[in-house]
Amino acid sequence: MENNTLNIKISEKPAYSYPIIIGQDLDFFEYIKKYTKAKKLLIVTNKTIFSLYEKKIKADNAYYVILEDGEEYKNFDSLKKILDTAIENRLERRDCFVAFGGGVVGDVTGYAAASYLRGVDFIQIPTTLLAHVDSSVGGKVAINHEKGKNLIGAFYQPKAVLADTNLLSTLDKRQLKTGLAEVLKYAFIEKSCGAELNYRFYDFLDAYSEKILKLDSVILEKLILICCTLKASVVEKDETEKGLRAVLNFGHTFAHAIENLTGYTKYTHGEAVAAGMIMAAKLALKLEMIERSYFVKINELINKYELLPELPGFDKDEFIEAMHLDKKADADKIRFILPDSEFSVKMVTDVDESLIKDCIEI
Ligand code: NAD
Ligand code: GLY
Repeated sequence: MENNTLNIKISEKPAYSYPIIIGQDLDFFEYIKKYTKAKKLLIVTNKTIFSLYEKKIKADNAYYVILEDGEEYKNFDSLKKILDTAIENRLERRDCFVAFGGGVVGDVTGYAAASYLRGVDFIQIPTTLLAHVDSSVGGKVAINHEKGKNLIGAFYQPKAVLADTNLLSTLDKRQLKTGLAEVLKYAFIEKSCGAELNYRFYDFLDAYSEKILKLDSVILEKLILICCTLKASVVEKDETEKGLRAVLNFGHTFAHAIENLTGYTKYTHGEAVAAGMIMAAKLALKLEMIERSYFVKINELINKYELLPELPGFDKDEFIEAMHLDKKADADKIRFILPDSEFSVKMVTDVDESLIKDCIEI
């Protein structure tokens, strides 16, 4: 079957565009040859993924950095390991870093590529659903600081994204579902992304839930293509989140507070986002921005995919405090992306705290 190719053109950098190639059993090294002039490659992955896919990523001209597995390794130590290996093996400007992993590997490798020799090429080969539909696309790269997530980073676009759906077959159910939360998010923000689709993404997700959960490859490729089309459309217009790109954060203001208050370990990002989207929809309903029928529709799709975790009873004042700490909070105002009609969202800032508190439950 033909691979799907989608080109991202960043409007702030007119000379610059890159492809997202979506298919099965992609020949990674052929594509790397096509899209870079690298003599040497630095392939970054983690122990879990390396043990599953060692053969697929073996190349004579490659050096390897195998990180420990976990969000806590998106840190300075991993960044140093990558840079040390590049320096020891004398990678040059024309050489290329390759991120082979989920969002953690992608983010730290991208940030290392942005800083090594003031920027070398890098290629994203996403291995989780979340990375296929979100983190590998759009050029946000970062590491965490002990004071907060993604506090040190850059906007640095890859040379290509090679999205091979075969890699998703080894994901466990929980990791699949964390990616699905971001997938559903695109359905709820579709109209705000400024891309023309042939059909409503909500209806696609509603109709094909069984096939999607069984990883039907044809449907999965379509799904990834739609998500990347929507994300590309946003990033092309607003690479550095001066405005429009914020629509991608639907559900995330609540989600970041959930993650923060539970130490980033209890819930996956997607579980927090699923809960966050329900809370955001509740807030929109209370603010009379949407009809109850649409609120029900949002709940129905999230429940169809069984994405919601069990949440503890949060202390509401602490929850509000955590929302203020989010780096997307604007001075002392909390910023929300809320639905304002079917499949459309907008930013809202001046919300009464008592109303917010009424929404901190699912
Ligand atoms: P992750 O990278 O930690 O991967 C999740 C788990 O799946 C890990 O245990 C990993 O080893 C395992 N795994 C990965 N691929 C596998 C495979 N093919 N088979 C079996 N197991 C596999 O988590 P994630 O959900 O991919 O990404 C989360 C990270 O992404 C966070 O750090 C978040 O901040 C970041 N993120 C970045 C952006 C962005 O725009 N840059 C967007 C969203 C999220
Ligand atoms: N995941 C949000 C963004 O890329 O902007």
